[in-house]
Amino acid sequence: SRAPMTDGLGRRIDYLRISVTDRCDLRCRYCMAERMRFLPRNQVLTLEEIALLADLFIARGVRKIRLTGGEPLVRRDMPDLVRRIGRHLGDGLDELTLTTNGTRLAEHAEALRDAGMGRINLSLDSLSPERFAHITRGGDIARVLHGLDAAHEAGLAVKINMVALKGVNEDEILPMLHWCDGRGFDLTLIETMPLGDTGQDRTDHYLPLTRVVEHIRRHRALTPLADRTGGPARYHAVEGMGIRLGLITPLTRNFCADCNRMRMTCEGKIFMCLGHEDHVDFRAALREGGLAAVHPLIDRALRLKPARHDFRIGIGAPAAAIHRHMSVTGG
Ligand code: GTP
Ligand code: 5AD
Ligand code: SF4
Repeated sequence: SRAPMTDGLGRRIDYLRISVTDRCDLRCRYCMAERMRFLPRNQVLTLEEIALLADLFIARGVRKIRLTGGEPLVRRDMPDLVRRIGRHLGDGLDELTLTTNGTRLAEHAEALRDAGMGRINLSLDSLSPERFAHITRGGDIARVLHGLDAAHEAGLAVKINMVALKGVNEDEILPMLHWCDGRGFDLTLIETMPLGDTGQDRTDHYLPLTRVVEHIRRHRALTPLADRTGGPARYHAVEGMGIRLGLITPLTRNFCADCNRMRMTCEGKIFMCLGHEDHVDFRAALREGGLAAVHPLIDRALRLKPARHDFRIGIGAPAAAIHRHMSVTGG
């Protein structure tokens, strides 16, 4: 049955984000602690388990799957997983895509395209090698730019994700917009959210996109577009440019009312919202009772979906902080 899934508030849920690993070869300051403790392998779903659960969700009406992490391409079996899930494209699944930091894209771009991926999102918060190294705690931007070239050559469309950080990359937002326009990449700006203990005071770096938009509008008119890609970004046309500017504003203007998403962590827990701790453990059910045991849990998960997240603009407000790291839940 491909009857659409709906939650208790009548929202249709057809977008599944899967974190395939909590590991990453970078350590972005807003995402991870300097010394992260990673999950033991037996707690992380195997390729076979992820593929089985993806099959089940597609059978239940999921039409878009995004693979995230951590960094999905640090998993050695990623090309196989992408091929496995990609078999559903055109038959139940409309889109299979990926959010990546790009460091290993050069090796994988062609395989991703061959498995049916049309576009990817690449996280890039600065174009300056020094700043990139600072934000990622040691990352090499040259590898990422090389990966981007490979993606472009393979014919993958690219959207750049940039977390807007006050006092860190605020002055690079306009240059980044021009850089993306020159290469035909859409650019999405993201407000930082209080997830996981990163050992940083994120109140200091929180930058409301309302302020960024005012700044951009002094240089270029922005026109809201009706385009939706199924994700949380609201898109704008930029005067004189061929690309779209996306805004992801969980704090200044949340998009929960028409949320269509659920998330599966690399441990097989289903979270219906990034900003809530309620979840259902699919791994335990799958390992103990097989797919038949998982099936009824989908309805339980749907009933857990809250109306909205509780992140607050006073982003440090402790009550709203979520201890889970983004890398486990899926960025
Ligand atoms: P498109 O398919 O291009 O629309 O992608 P997307 O915007 O759905 O996915 P992407 O991985 O680019 O998401 C970018 C960022 O948006 C994520 O890393 C999160 O920071 C944030 N985000 C995505 N979905 C949600 C959500 O449901 N709630 C909140 N609060 N933030 C989200
Ligand atoms: N707030 C907002 N976005 C975040 N990401 C990681 N941590 C955070 C956070 N605290 C985003 C990254 C990347 C994706 C994997 O998740 O920018 O685009
Ligand atoms: Fe890794 Fe992405 Fe998190 Fe940065 S944002 S540490 S690249 S998972």
